Amino acid sequence: MNLAILARSSPLFTTSRILHRSIASKPFSCCSISNSPISINPKTPLFLRPPTFSATLSDLQKWQNWAKSIASSVKSSFTDSDNGPNSNDLHRELNWLIEDALENPQSLLTHNEFEIDYVLRLRADLDELYLLWKQRIEKRRPFQYVVGCEHWRDLVVSVEEGVLIPRPETELMVDLVDDVIKENEDLKEGLWVDLGTGSGAIAIGIVRILGDFGRVIATDLSHVAVQVASFNVNRYNLQDKISVKQGSWFEPLSGFEGRVAGLVSNPPYIPSGHVSGLQAEVGRHEPILALDGGEDGMADLLHLCNGAALMLKSGGFFAFETNGEDQCRFLVDHMETIHNGSFHNLEIIPDFAGIQRFVTGIRS
Ligand SMILES: C[S@@+](CC[C@H](N)C(=O)[O-])C[C@H]1O[C@@H](n2cnc3c(N)ncnc32)[C@H](O)[C@@H]1O
Repeated sequence: MNLAILARSSPLFTTSRILHRSIASKPFSCCSISNSPISINPKTPLFLRPPTFSATLSDLQKWQNWAKSIASSVKSSFTDSDNGPNSNDLHRELNWLIEDALENPQSLLTHNEFEIDYVLRLRADLDELYLLWKQRIEKRRPFQYVVGCEHWRDLVVSVEEGVLIPRPETELMVDLVDDVIKENEDLKEGLWVDLGTGSGAIAIGIVRILGDFGRVIATDLSHVAVQVASFNVNRYNLQDKISVKQGSWFEPLSGFEGRVAGLVSNPPYIPSGHVSGLQAEVGRHEPILALDGGEDGMADLLHLCNGAALMLKSGGFFAFETNGEDQCRFLVDHMETIHNGSFHNLEIIPDFAGIQRFVTGIRS
């Protein structure tokens, strides 16, 4: 079963996110590899905007009927072409869009068609709602970018073009950290790092379970990701606990060698050759910097393994997300051979769909 279909947040059928990438510690710049627009001020998610617009019930119903009809016209065409959403999925998203856009979504149900002049308060004007739904269907713009947020664990994180929409399977990363700190309470008080933080979802999830003394450094090469992660960190009032830094992988951590208690990352891991076959929502709209893992998808993962050996203190924990069993096995082999004796308790852990997804271990 595709978990993404069940999540309010994810119409992105994430099984298409096949991981991969290449090996060197890539000296690329985000501008040369990303086709995303540079955004300095992350946008406020639709549901958090003030309801400063209004429309009559009649005009809103016209929009809703138009939106439903174009959603219905899709049928299974997106699913057939690239495993994209079908009409049912789009209808569900339309309801969510209404929930986010109306101050009181119930009023659409409680006022009947004879109250056509009844005025509803909106968080976006009707023209914008027409535009947003057109973009969703015609451009296959991801729903999360349309409404500006993603529901992830108990969080609602802002997202926009240029930053990866956090996926349901990645939620488990926070549970893995929760498990390890229950076994070793000392880890709670040390420094944690989330490399390639994107929206900051993992860093925020982790710091909330670390408790009073928890500190996380969240890094990303992408300027947009750093802006969006900082926005999310501030929105959850965690700016004293999470420091967001821009730079390539371990670069922003200079001086912390051998001092890190926990290191997590969900790096780009899709093989370059698979990127063009991704669902349109992903391939056309999400940042290539977040997806493309190079020729075999392993480059950043291997770089991170090597860095983990250097950065973690003895007893320190790491967890990496991969695209599946082959990458997990490759990583474990790499650690057992190249870093023989540096790590113990190496484990491969499946996600909720049963796909071997994570590699975890402890620095010896
Ligand atoms: C698969 S996304 C994960 C984002 C986020 N952690 C999540 O799980 O939703 C990979 C992230 O790594 C970042 N990234 C790619 N290359 C990087 C590098 N050399 N150094 C730091 N971050 C990098 C991307 O910008 C992107 O945000």
